[in-house]
Amino acid sequence: MAEIVVVSDQQSAGELSAQIMVDLIERTPDAVLGLATGSTPLALYRALAARVADIGLDVSRVRGFALDEYVGLPEGHPESYRSVITREVVEPLGLTPALIHVPNGSLDGIEHAGPDYEEALTAAGGVDVQVLGIGTDGHIGFNEPGSSFASATRVKTLTEQTRRDNARFFASEADVPMHCITQGLGTILRARHLLLLAFGEGKADAVAGAVEGPVSASNPGSAIQLHPHATVIVDEAAASRLQNLAYYRYAYANKPAWQTL
Ligand code: PGA
Repeated sequence: MAEIVVVSDQQSAGELSAQIMVDLIERTPDAVLGLATGSTPLALYRALAARVADIGLDVSRVRGFALDEYVGLPEGHPESYRSVITREVVEPLGLTPALIHVPNGSLDGIEHAGPDYEEALTAAGGVDVQVLGIGTDGHIGFNEPGSSFASATRVKTLTEQTRRDNARFFASEADVPMHCITQGLGTILRARHLLLLAFGEGKADAVAGAVEGPVSASNPGSAIQLHPHATVIVDEAAASRLQNLAYYRYAYANKPAWQTL
């Protein structure tokens, strides 16, 4: 079972998850981080940037792999995930840009962009900690409902709901790309630690489905139930539809001191 940690607000979630990253980087200076985009991980990236500066952590050898990218946006588009990762993660943390990989969403070469990305991930030795948000339709990465649990990095068609959800980043919904390239559920499940964050009432059903729902390709987030080391950090609102919430709180409150997240 995933470990469920309920926190009071996004800032606490950010600090807790930043600590996981700091511990990892102190142990493994060339750690491979799996980077998610969207609003959810911003609290983590902010807290991590502050911690890195505070303790003078050397992050120059840290490597990163983004989960996904839109297909067909012009190079340098501010909402391409390459731009978002650069702006929200690479620059504030002071990571080395050449060590940060994002799937290639350019139409030129899109047929082999998935296998190329898988090859780069394998060559890097896989992801140490994979940060995940979750879509209101249960997607992780851009693996929309129906995605195979064995899937690799490939091109997918975004659901109408995801395009609506992401329209806030674009001038209009029509401007949200129709296609994306995303790590597969099989790719994500190979990461050594999954760290899923979710905030707000709008995510409560998706979180309940991922943590407690039947394991089903119809609910991609439920793939985390197959992972031996998954941590889910949520606020009260996102936790509100979990059936076994009292037990998760009890287990976390009684966590043995030697166990880390
Ligand atoms: P959000 O997106 O963090 O912007 O809510 C999550 C997701 O779509 O995976």
